[in-house]
Amino acid sequence: MAVTGRFRREVSRVYVCSCFGITEQQVKQHAESGACTPRQVASACKAGTDCGSCVRRIQAILGRGACPRREPIGQGRPAPAPLREAAA
Ligand code: FES
Repeated sequence: MAVTGRFRREVSRVYVCSCFGITEQQVKQHAESGACTPRQVASACKAGTDCGSCVRRIQAILGRGACPRREPIGQGRPAPAPLREAAA
């Protein structure tokens, strides 16, 4: 089954936050601009700041690699140093 241009356009308008009319594509764009947490996405577009039911969906989008800053430890960067234990 061929995907028509109209259908493709509709797919790109999947709403993540219905309170503010924020789409999945917009969340991905905010992530590409540096937002790596739902709170940072909220700062950029208010998504998640009303009823809050979309926060998990935003988190899932960010967790799917929409945030370019997330890299697995050991791939291109040294692992963070272990925390020192407090002196007794
Ligand atoms: S659906 Fe996003 S704040 Fe309500």
